[in-house]
Amino acid sequence: MLVKNINSICCIGAGYVGGPTMAVVADNCPDIKVTIVDLNEERIKLWNSNDLTKIPIFEPGLKEIISRVRNKNLFFTTDVENSIKNSDMVFISVNTPTKTKGIGAGKASDISWVEACTRQVASNAIGETIIVEKSTIPVRTAEAIKTILENNSKKNSKSDACSFTVLSNPEFLAEGTAVKDLQNPDRILIGGEDEESIQALKNIYLNWVAEEKIITTNLWSSELSKLTANAFLAQRISSINSISALCEVTGADIDEVKKAIGLDTRIGKKFLNAGPGFGGSCFKKDILNLTYLCQHFGLPEVSSYWEQVVSINNWQIYRIYKMVINKLFGNVTNKKIAILGFSFKANTNDTRESPAIFICKELLVEGALLSIHDPKVSLAQIITELGDIGEENRSNWSHQIDLDETYDDADAIIILTEWEQYRNINWDLVSSKMKSPSWVFDTRKIVNPKKIKNCDFNFWQVGLGNNI
Ligand code: UDX
Ligand code: ADP
Repeated sequence: MLVKNINSICCIGAGYVGGPTMAVVADNCPDIKVTIVDLNEERIKLWNSNDLTKIPIFEPGLKEIISRVRNKNLFFTTDVENSIKNSDMVFISVNTPTKTKGIGAGKASDISWVEACTRQVASNAIGETIIVEKSTIPVRTAEAIKTILENNSKKNSKSDACSFTVLSNPEFLAEGTAVKDLQNPDRILIGGEDEESIQALKNIYLNWVAEEKIITTNLWSSELSKLTANAFLAQRISSINSISALCEVTGADIDEVKKAIGLDTRIGKKFLNAGPGFGGSCFKKDILNLTYLCQHFGLPEVSSYWEQVVSINNWQIYRIYKMVINKLFGNVTNKKIAILGFSFKANTNDTRESPAIFICKELLVEGALLSIHDPKVSLAQIITELGDIGEENRSNWSHQIDLDETYDDADAIIILTEWEQYRNINWDLVSSKMKSPSWVFDTRKIVNPKKIKNCDFNFWQVGLGNNI
């Protein structure tokens, strides 16, 4: 077997997946030149900024890696064509959002961006090129990629013969722990048929990952495994969230239930935190894509089974929102509500599908005055996410940099993201600054009820029975 030596890699897409993944590859493979390309000039400019606090993605440990490898063997550029030309291996790490129109709208994944960059690869690659799919894509997309590439090879047959192989190498990193997950993955999955290309990709990972953690499958198993892993993880969250509601009405405590069931090694401890509902760019999108595939392949029962995971998630966000309104006497007009956390989880500046978006928008529509705090999400990002409703009610909400100023005179506080600094709040002090009567709603179960015993405010916590 003649395994190609990979000297240069191009990654198309400098987003939440492409950026951290390639930074870790470059850090572990000093002899490989890694170039990340993106059409978004502003994003590339930020990745190249001298001030490392300005890089567009916040991930613990990322800026330290960037400072070590940027402009040594990691480069960020908008020059897509030349970067492809000069690479032995091209990673596709572009966005694959849910389709908004046409067949499968609202469910199927839109692979226009994958297709567009496949065409770019097809018209610019020279010699033998290995294409690696990193984006989460519908099962059998590799086939479409191969067809586009093969047609191009035929066109180019007179000139330099160029050949392509396609591998699927799904990314399992979670945002907020991306660097840790990439540095020490549970497994690396490579799907494909061409043994030499598989080995070439495997050799890259072998620089820092143990061989037994690298598994290979056929292309379709690899693509489907990514969707299935996300569906299973999201299912655990919807399961625990459904039980959190039952705890609240029966007097059980979700943390006690979590501990009791998590100690069963068949169930395990992880991913059993009740919350305001899962967010992020993957879970909802991937499950909807899975349900679409099941429908498409004549499995409507399987489709509706998985659809329930998304339905319970929507229900969880909505029931928390309704509960807030009820506790505030059904009226929030001109009431000041402090929102603690806007990102979809802690340790990321990503807001995609964050439950905070829905809750803030609905509260604004009801006439509330919002004071929004998040340690990493910028004002510009909040403006984008709140869209028209945010703009129409611009004088009714503010973005707070200083946490202490967020709750002055507030009628209520809603904790939506489990940022570490919210765990260490001095509640006695906060209580003295709030109106009376007032409420604290803890949707992440991060407040220790013992520490607020002497506080004046009323308290509600997700999954806590006998909420008063
Ligand atoms: C997820 C998968 O974990 C990752 O493997 C895949 O590659 C991409 O999708 P991500 O969305 O970045 O990663 O974060 P994750 O930690 O999975 O959290 C997703 C959502 O679930 C967040 O909103 C989080 O707050 C919520 N969550 C997670 C819970 O509500 N409870 C939990 O116990 C765990
Ligand atoms: P993810 O979370 O999957 O990384 P992002 O939206 O954060 O998703 O990143 C995807 C990136 O891919 C975006 O910055 C987008 O500009 C880029 N992109 C999409 N299509 C192309 C393309 N054809 N060529 C180069 N970059 C692209």
